[in-house]
Amino acid sequence: MALKSINPTQTNAWQSLKKHFADIKDAHLKKLFNDNSHRKEEFTINFNDFSIDFSKNTITQETVNQLIKLADEVDLKGAIEKYFSGEKINETEERAVLHSALRTQKNNPILVDGIDILPQIKSTLSKIKDFTNNVVSGAWKGYTNKKITDIVNVGIGGSDLGSDMVVDALKHYKNHLNIHFVSNIDGDHVKEIIKKLNPETTLFVIVSKTFTTQETLTNATTIRKWFLETADEKAIKKHFVAVSTNLKDVMAFGIEEENIFTMWNWVGGRFSLWSTVGLSISLAVGFDNFNQLLKGASEMDEHFKKASFDKNIPVILALIGIWYNNFFGSETEVILPYSHYLNKFPIYLQQASMESNGKSVDRKGNKVDYQTGSIIWGSAGTNAQHAFMQLIHQGTKLIPADFIGFEESLYGDKEHHQKLMANFYGQTQALAFGKTKEEVHLDLKFQGKIESIEKLLPFKVFEGNKPTNTILIKKLTPRNLGSLIAMYEQKIFVQGIIWNIYSFDQFGVELGKELAHKIYTEI
Ligand code: F6P
Repeated sequence: MALKSINPTQTNAWQSLKKHFADIKDAHLKKLFNDNSHRKEEFTINFNDFSIDFSKNTITQETVNQLIKLADEVDLKGAIEKYFSGEKINETEERAVLHSALRTQKNNPILVDGIDILPQIKSTLSKIKDFTNNVVSGAWKGYTNKKITDIVNVGIGGSDLGSDMVVDALKHYKNHLNIHFVSNIDGDHVKEIIKKLNPETTLFVIVSKTFTTQETLTNATTIRKWFLETADEKAIKKHFVAVSTNLKDVMAFGIEEENIFTMWNWVGGRFSLWSTVGLSISLAVGFDNFNQLLKGASEMDEHFKKASFDKNIPVILALIGIWYNNFFGSETEVILPYSHYLNKFPIYLQQASMESNGKSVDRKGNKVDYQTGSIIWGSAGTNAQHAFMQLIHQGTKLIPADFIGFEESLYGDKEHHQKLMANFYGQTQALAFGKTKEEVHLDLKFQGKIESIEKLLPFKVFEGNKPTNTILIKKLTPRNLGSLIAMYEQKIFVQGIIWNIYSFDQFGVELGKELAHKIYTEI
């Protein structure tokens, strides 16, 4: 076995954490801050343009120490080494897990089955670069000799969500090409998109690691038919390219070999935006920005590999997540980016996290008797404040939240940005410290509502003590976005290691696919 199989609940650290939990579970954040005036500095990690403040959690230094002992007891260190060095840690599919290799800035060989994969990665990157430059500059022409104006990415899941999220997040850096995403098998989705397009100036990027996914093949076939209503077969090579590991089926579909961008089995679909799957990102923002995205991710990987666990951002975030999930019994985590560009980030993270850690069988094949992956959800602040934040502030559920904000806005509008960030900080403070009876009393008195005090008081009290992480980043650049995505990818990895599950397969989605095929045949 590449990875050890250690039941986390049988470790000494887990037993100590259970006792510690009983001591600390009712501690109020207000008191924890009053007891230690250096709490914010002690529980903040700085890295490049990032500052991660995890002080507003129900933890003490003792909690962190014990959680780190848990990570040590399950041999997280050993697992990280195996992961980055290409051991086949995706054991149920007998694959290495090397999305980190796609973005490495180093030249040290990384071996898969005894072969160094870096030369293949570099040559693929240079193919992405040349193709991007050709299309963006207009050198690549359609079948009537016109420049390309529109790109349609056809894919689903990992072949859609990452690219769609990044293209949206980096809109500020975009060139003139219009990028569209077709994913759903709902024919109205594809029809809605192609109806506005001119086949002479549109390029279709068919993205499917397996090239067997029903949604993608159905959409690609519909598009091909629509394209051939005005063009002939020979024109296909100017308008269809594919990203896949399955060259045979792509060629059978009619796409030329030179228009195929390869990927590899050691890249999981939901971690593949760094590979040729990110071709639409490179086309949207140019290869240099795509490269910056890779660089930022690689910097986070280096931090993750080298920083001691107490100063290691993905490790600390993962451990805090486990603290709430397995000890406090929280079922969900909410992701709240205070940037409208990151509106799709929570949806992207849902697949990355829930398809990875939504497992209930441990690495020995036994059913687990403890909680694993959390439910991930969220949307952009401040819109979220006017939608679901009420439940987080005053509902009955404990929902740990990640607030992601930027020091600078991209267009530099000070007034908007100050208001946005005032809300960002205001929410984390309200969640942590709440509003006491005395404060509500004073407020109502001040407003001259003395006669309503008794009636309104219980409804206006905020208990507070709601945990948050404050992830503050200087600016939304391609490089910082790369680091942010990699931060969550590595958090997911750490949690999977501690929960003793296999994070890199996804058999849970197969049964639904099989049944859909069967029912379709019957229909
Ligand atoms: O939803 C299951 C899944 O296998 C994902 O893991 C993957 O990202 C998606 O389907 C698409 O797969 P493919 O790239 O092979 O079309």
